[in-house]
Formats: sequence, C-alpha cells, structure tokens
Amino acid sequence: MTAKIIDGRAISQEIRAELRERVDALKRRGVEPGLAFVLVGEDPASLSYVASKNQGAAEVGINSQTLQIPGDTSQEQVVELVRRLNLDPAWHGILVQLPLPSSLSEGAVINAIAVKKDVDGIHPANIGRLLRGEPTFKPATPSGVQQLLLRSGYDPGGKHVVICGRSNIVGKPLAAILMQKAPGANATVTVCHTRTLDLANMTLQADILVAAMGAARAIKDDMVREGAVVIDVGNNRVEDASRKSGFRLVGDVDYEGVADKAAAITPVPGGVGPMTVTMVLYNTVLAAEGRFE
Ligand SMILES: NC(=O)c1ccc[n+]([C@@H]2O[C@H](COP(=O)([O-])OP(=O)(O)OC[C@H]3O[C@@H](n4cnc5c(N)ncnc54)[C@H](OP(=O)(O)O)[C@@H]3O)[C@@H](O)[C@H]2O)c1
Repeated sequence: MTAKIIDGRAISQEIRAELRERVDALKRRGVEPGLAFVLVGEDPASLSYVASKNQGAAEVGINSQTLQIPGDTSQEQVVELVRRLNLDPAWHGILVQLPLPSSLSEGAVINAIAVKKDVDGIHPANIGRLLRGEPTFKPATPSGVQQLLLRSGYDPGGKHVVICGRSNIVGKPLAAILMQKAPGANATVTVCHTRTLDLANMTLQADILVAAMGAARAIKDDMVREGAVVIDVGNNRVEDASRKSGFRLVGDVDYEGVADKAAAITPVPGGVGPMTVTMVLYNTVLAAEGRFE
C-alpha cells in the first residue's frame, strides 16, 4: 500500500478561505477581529513563530499586533500587560508566545489571560471545559490534528486512536478532544509515553496513530498496522550537510517505510505544522463572534 498524503497546507488554505468569509461578515457588522501577541525576549524561534502568525492573521483579515517586551521584564509587568489587553476591546484574542524566559512563571502569566480571549486554549478553565466536553477554545495543534482527520475523510468515531506523547500542549488535549461524546470525536484513545512498556505492541493496535514525541523518526514501519492512518506532529531538526542551513526537518515517523504501509500519512513539513497557526486564527474568529465551540 502506498499512503495517501494528507496535505496540511491545502487543508489549512481551505480553512483560511472559510475564515476570510467569516471575518468579512464580522466587519460588515462593525466588528474588526483583533489578535494581540505578547512576546517576551528575543528567542529566534519565538520571533519566527509570531511572524508567521501575524502573516496568517493578515491573510484572513484579522488585525494583529505584537507587543514585544525585554526578556528581563518582571513577572508583575508581564501580568499587567496581559490584564491591559484583557480590558482592551480591540483584542478578541491574546496569545502569549511560549516558552517564557525561565525567570517568569508561565502558569501565573497564562492564568492572567481572560478566559474568553485565550485563543491558544491553554488557560486552566478552558482545558477544564475541554475535558468536560463543554464549549471552549481547543488548543491549536490538537485541534489541527482533528481537522486534518475530518477533512481528509478519516472520522475518528469508533476508531482506536493511539497517541504517542502526553504533553500538555499536544498529547493530553488531543486525547481529551478525540474521546468526547461528540461529532468528529467518539474515538477509543490510548495515550503512550516513555514509561509505556512495549510501545510497538500499542502502536500496532492503532487505526489512527498520532506521533507527538519529539523523537526523530522513532515510529518505524514494523510499528504500524497495514492500512492505518498516521499523523506526524513531530518537528525535529536533523543534520544535513547537503542543505545550506546544515539541517532539515523530519517528523517522529520514519516516513518512507511507514508510507508503504499506511492508508494515509501527513508529511513533515507540510502536515500538522501549517494547521497550528490556522487553528489559532480559527479560535480568534470564534472569539470575535463572541462564542466558544
Ligand atoms: N507542528 C506543530 O505545530 C507542532 C506543535 C507542537 C509540537 N510540535 C512537535 O511535536 C513534538 C512533540 O511536542 P511536545 O511539545 O508535545 O513535546 P514534549 O513536551 O517533549 O512531550 C513529548 C512526549 O512524548 C513522549 N515521548 C518522547 N519520546 C518518546 C519515546 N521514544 N517513546 C514514547 N514516548 C515518548 C514523552 O513522554 P514522557 O511524558 O514520559 O516524557 C512526552 O510525553 C515535537 O517534535 C514538537 O516540535 C509540533
């Protein structure tokens, strides 16, 4: 079997086109959707993530602004900035770019974001709602995984989804999303991690296998059932002397071997990655519409 490629760039463009229409409808009602980024310090990866989110916002007609403050800003000042944005009606969404410098408490800053402006879906109240199956903002990367599945014809309902990785931003919220008694969910979910005994025994049982480990090419073809759907969240730099940069990006799945066995697979890059920014924009449009989902 040669896998169908689940094209994250194309699906992302499809969702952005839908968002543009919703943004236009909001503007006709006099609502100008706004997304504020809080960037503490000058971490190059964070700068580039925020730049691509700003670019995505402009593409769908969302007004966005980056508030960049020095890395040595005090905890109180960062929280104060977030509180000011909470009160400013120009901003429907607030996104604090993580990681924060180690001198700051991420928990304290996240807790300061207004629940109805938390378009990253990381405030404990929104995570709680997610788990309870109540309307919320779903965290962007796992929400993107769900959309990739649904929009490429692989409804997880009734399927066994095996997720490798239990982080707070990917594995755990993805399990919470897919286990819900709700359309587009209703999966049976197994979550694996570094203490899982015999990982291959688990992954071989997956109808849908999600790799979110940060371990380059760790999922080999002998760990995947013939005909499984494979979603690769991993984004790992490996040395590549043939590239000008000296590296290239690979996923957590050994793509070539696994693509021969899977029914469908996401590439890296061009799979889950493009969806993450798009789902932040999706949540910002929801926030500007004054609703959760
Ligand atoms: N494309 C995107 O937009 C996007 C967004 C977010 C993340 N990512 C990528 O997704 C990957 C995961 O990110 P993350 O933030 O979730 O990482 P993380 O916080 O480091 O969590 C990794 C998880 O994977 C588990 N794990 C690691 N190696 C494993 C192994 N060999 N076998 C079984 N489980 C293993 C860890 O288990 P323990 O809990 O036991 O340590 C942990 O639960 C990274 O490559 C990251 O760059 C991509």
